[in-house]
Amino acid sequence: MKVLNFGSLNLDYVYAVDHMVTAGETLASRGMQTFCGGKGLNQSIALARAGVPVYHAGLIGEEGEILFETCRESGVNTAFIRRIPGKSGHTIIQVDRGGQNCILLYGGANRSMTREYVDEVLENFGKGDMVLLQNEINLLDYIINRAYERGMEIVLNPSPYDHHLDSCDFSRVSWFLLNEIEGWQVTGEKEPDHILAKLRELYPKARVVLTLGSEGSVYQYKEERYRQGIFKVEVRDTTAAGDTFTGYFIASILEGMSVPDGLRLAARASAIAVSRDGATSSIPMREEVRL
Ligand code: RIB
Repeated sequence: MKVLNFGSLNLDYVYAVDHMVTAGETLASRGMQTFCGGKGLNQSIALARAGVPVYHAGLIGEEGEILFETCRESGVNTAFIRRIPGKSGHTIIQVDRGGQNCILLYGGANRSMTREYVDEVLENFGKGDMVLLQNEINLLDYIINRAYERGMEIVLNPSPYDHHLDSCDFSRVSWFLLNEIEGWQVTGEKEPDHILAKLRELYPKARVVLTLGSEGSVYQYKEERYRQGIFKVEVRDTTAAGDTFTGYFIASILEGMSVPDGLRLAARASAIAVSRDGATSSIPMREEVRL
């Protein structure tokens, strides 16, 4: 069984601020660093560092070579990453003194996928293989349909949630990994229990992991539910914490761990990620993550 992640690769320009800049305000930052990130790249690296062989498919533009190298150095298979003219995806991220962030995203190369490219990549995968997706690339609806027709298992992190997801056939998704806000955007419900109930009603065959910030996470499949709290650490930067959780949780499932152990492993990995700066730079190696 092969694992493919069709996802974004971004350069993250990260500014340390005393508070998030507000409309009309000019704010001096306390410092600036550039990191490799993108929900796709972060999740591929989390999978690889957790010990899962993963193929990443995605597009990079100018200045994107470091994204490719970061993938390669982390053990992600880069055979399907393509270079195109124009800008790579990037973000401008403000991180405040409490480690919370605000992200402005420019899609760049991530939004230049073509059907031909998608078909060329998917030709290499088939029944029983897994495809992991987030919402920072274009043609998500097309990828879901083609992957489903090939018999692949579809894992969706519908993040960031926006109108591009409206055309996606969620009934083809086997796993949803999402946070409370995305849960609300998908279901229209605000309370975690209501979000889970609505997801079960809408997509009865899907397994769901709902992350709840400081309240931890909940897994749901049919009547079955498991909860996991967070591990408290000093927060430096929350960027990529969710991606680390996603990568480590999927790795636990592929390894055959029980769901409660998988949730605990993912919670430990994301606690390490929030205690460090940056996106890919914050994702721990498997040896650092104790159950
Ligand atoms: O989830 C964190 C990621 O979201 C960052 O690395 C940034 O690139 C944005 O895509």
